[in-house]
Amino acid sequence: MAVDVLLGLQWGDEGKGKIVDVLAPQYDIIARFQGGPNAGHTLIFDGKKFVLHTVPSGIFRPGLKNIIGNGVVIDPITLSKELDQLDAAGVDYAGRLFVARKAHLILPSHRLLDAARENAKGDRKIGSTLKGIGPTYMDKTGRNGLRVGNIEAPDFRDRYEELKEKHKQLVGLYPFVEFELAKEEEAWFKAVERLQTLEFVDGEYWINDAIKRGDKILAEGAQGSMLDIDFGTYPFVTSSNTITAGVCTGLGIAPQQIGEVIGITKAYCTRVGGGPFPTELTGETGEFLRAEGGEFGATTGRPRRCGWIDLVQLRYTIMLSGVTQLVVTKVDVLNKFETLKVADAYKVDGSLSHELPFDLVHENYEAVYTDVPGWNSNLTSVKEEANLPKACIDYVQFLEEKLGTRVSMVSTGPDREELVVR
Ligand code: GDP
Ligand code: IMO
Ligand code: MG
Repeated sequence: MAVDVLLGLQWGDEGKGKIVDVLAPQYDIIARFQGGPNAGHTLIFDGKKFVLHTVPSGIFRPGLKNIIGNGVVIDPITLSKELDQLDAAGVDYAGRLFVARKAHLILPSHRLLDAARENAKGDRKIGSTLKGIGPTYMDKTGRNGLRVGNIEAPDFRDRYEELKEKHKQLVGLYPFVEFELAKEEEAWFKAVERLQTLEFVDGEYWINDAIKRGDKILAEGAQGSMLDIDFGTYPFVTSSNTITAGVCTGLGIAPQQIGEVIGITKAYCTRVGGGPFPTELTGETGEFLRAEGGEFGATTGRPRRCGWIDLVQLRYTIMLSGVTQLVVTKVDVLNKFETLKVADAYKVDGSLSHELPFDLVHENYEAVYTDVPGWNSNLTSVKEEANLPKACIDYVQFLEEKLGTRVSMVSTGPDREELVVR
């Protein structure tokens, strides 16, 4: 079982980037398997901060290989900016950053379509990051897409033009949105040349050869399980499978290769964009959490919606992904509470339920809370379990019991070093 998985159990931004960076030295390869530049993974170490969108979060660890798998959708423009960031930081990624030929390309006209469609939805907006994710996956499943491997073919430009023309017709169905297609296109083709400086591989052979060699692989999830296309709060979701199942199709590996599944949850909960959020705090407490947690999107800068941790939701996503261990992040953000609330059940049509209803958008339900004591003291930067306040250890043990899964790490601050390993 060569492939461990690390993924978010909520609506994204659980701190995946930080934890992958921490765990990376235990692995030979870090692999992104789905999503695209809608992701924003923050890494902080040595007083520096980096935000990665497409590049796997193992890139700062010397010697480690990183692969952008076939399940990822790539915007060469964003990727090129990320490479600039790495160059500026003196990170040598030559020979360490691989791209699967079967990964699909996000065209500028995919972003245009994303913008036009969202704009037309009015107040039913998904709150997409507008990175072209939905339209690109739509072309993938609709069998129209362009893939990284096509760049090397002589008819690439023709196929690009053909797809762009299709998109222009589709855009005509929606009200006008401002988008400088010609300018974006120029930047895109330049960025495609940059992309070609990376090593393209047949990802499925590449990764299975690595498994045969005995390499240890960590699959890095993007988004969160509640944004999964099948099991998330549809239609307020992203367009990929964000759960463990996505690792097999997104990298080309068999299920029996999957080992540990590390699920990440914040000690509370956030969501960015539209859609249901049963434990959302819309008043002062929510604003307090946003300020304490610096809850603003790493990709779009939008304020994140904040609320209490939701155990009904977490049990659901732990079940879907076969999570074997939990990481609880951002416990320090709860430093100033006397009492915390935890949703442990829902009332659906007046009856108590421990399952998520089919349609969180329209059904009649509410979260039912249990009070647990807070620690009301500063545990930021604590690195030893013995130095955590008793109420915090109790909170972690309460989560373990309620979720039936052990908590292997507790994150006490954004820096690489701010972590309790249990
Ligand atoms: P990702 O998308 O799951 O990688 O998460 P993001 O990077 O989008 O958002 C997580 C945010 O929380 C980032 O700003 C991190 O630097 C920060 N962060 C991660 N872990 C902790 C923690 O334990 N405490 C605090 N205060 N911030 C954290
Ligand atoms: P990371 O990897 C949080 C949300 C968007 C929107 C919905 C659909 O950083 O955790 P899309 O652009 O995919 O069409 O948007 O999904 N979303 C995320 N929210 N973290 C992310 O990634 C997200 N990626 C997409 O806000 O509601
Ligand atoms: Mg993020």
